[in-house]
Amino acid sequence: MFDPIEKLKEHLRFPSVSTDSNFKEGMDGSRRFLESLFADMGLSVEVVNTPMHPIVLARREGNPEWPHVLIYGHYDVQPADPLEEWRSDPFDPVVKDGRLFARGAADNKGPQMAHIAAVAQALEEDPELPLRITFLIEGEEEIGSPSLKPFLESRKDSFSDVDLVLLSDTLSPTEKQIVVTVGLRGIAVLDVQVQGPSADLHSGLHGGAVYNPVQALCEICASLHDENNRVTVDGFYEGVTDVEDWERDELAKLGADEEAYKKTLGVGALHPIEGYTPFEATRYLPTLEFNGIGGGYQGEGSKTIVPSKAMTKISCRLVGNQDPKVIGERVKQAVLDRAPPGVSINVEMGHEGAPYLVTPPGRPNSPADMPGRLVYAFEATTKAIDESFGCSPLFLREGGSIPIIADFKSILGLDSVMIGLFLPEDNLHAPNESMNLDVLNRGIDASKKILFSIAKHG
Ligand code: BES
Ligand code: MN
Repeated sequence: MFDPIEKLKEHLRFPSVSTDSNFKEGMDGSRRFLESLFADMGLSVEVVNTPMHPIVLARREGNPEWPHVLIYGHYDVQPADPLEEWRSDPFDPVVKDGRLFARGAADNKGPQMAHIAAVAQALEEDPELPLRITFLIEGEEEIGSPSLKPFLESRKDSFSDVDLVLLSDTLSPTEKQIVVTVGLRGIAVLDVQVQGPSADLHSGLHGGAVYNPVQALCEICASLHDENNRVTVDGFYEGVTDVEDWERDELAKLGADEEAYKKTLGVGALHPIEGYTPFEATRYLPTLEFNGIGGGYQGEGSKTIVPSKAMTKISCRLVGNQDPKVIGERVKQAVLDRAPPGVSINVEMGHEGAPYLVTPPGRPNSPADMPGRLVYAFEATTKAIDESFGCSPLFLREGGSIPIIADFKSILGLDSVMIGLFLPEDNLHAPNESMNLDVLNRGIDASKKILFSIAKHG
């Protein structure tokens, strides 16, 4: 049996940044690392090429009567920038104070290793384990999984005997309070280009004569929320669904503290929509966020111009039954409609993903037709987390997105059991990302218990 932490370090040395074509070698290395790891575990490996980054499939086949678990993960990571803020090389993992520092340590190579190591150990302990397992590890999660959805559609039949999806790519609030994530927000992304005069103008000669595109963009952006932080786009909240009482009770148990939250974020005040706490707003409501804005002179000193162009990038998080195409189009139309005369606006729609919700068994709104093996998997997960982490899990929605999880449901009819194995202090998508190694070890233990238990239940 390999040492999971040493193996994880090996994986983290490949800079698998999916969004930047300069990192093709890192993507190839990471993919080959998974191929050989799975082959060494005795699984049959298939690499599926896509227009962008290949998908790695690894199977343990077996008796068709055995339960079949699909374990999902992603081998791509976010860019490491800004590099100067890292205390160690992002692609040369180091252990310090019980944490492993590297880009991708928490999102998603570490949590994914919990399940890989669990399977390796389980098969070593019981080579006859009556369980079918398929790993599906993709390389495009951080760019919206453009290839995975068409892949699922084209291979629908080969997944028809899967019982459930198991993954760890979500958050737990502390190492003492593990969360089973039961909802993810969807996403719609827009790129807005504003064009004013055909070239930058001398602001003395022409300032006062034309509509400044930076001003136009700022006015449009400012108009998209009201003073209570509600989005002002017509129909923006369509499809938002009610929150069940049990969900509110569960969130209350989290005992989240606004003062502590403000401190962690380094802000003097929070700004959720009126009527919601910040912890509700990030889970239960859609948002419209400006991810970046620019235009005109950004260099040292000053430059007296009326710029020719301005731009912003927007992402909307979506919930409930919201359709990312519909809501994205409405935002696009609102931006176009609000363009003043003399500036032209072009809006490109980027990647998108639908929201996802699953109701665990035993709740007032649990679906009556929930497949028995899924019901059992939730029960086994609850018990395993209790034993491995010493806490009962909370079942909470999460504000982040993993678009493919909704596609597993809509295309393959599969629900997901999501165990949160990264923590708020892990610095996802930020400098000095790290993984808590105690959480990783307990995660391996919990995952192994879940797999044994699903196999035993049959
Ligand atoms: N692991 C995250 C999703 C996540 C983050 C879940 C925080 C729960 C809490 C995932 O890798 C991610 O970052 N997803 C992107 C998706 C996007 C690029 C389509 C996200 O949420 O921004
Ligand atoms: Mn992730």
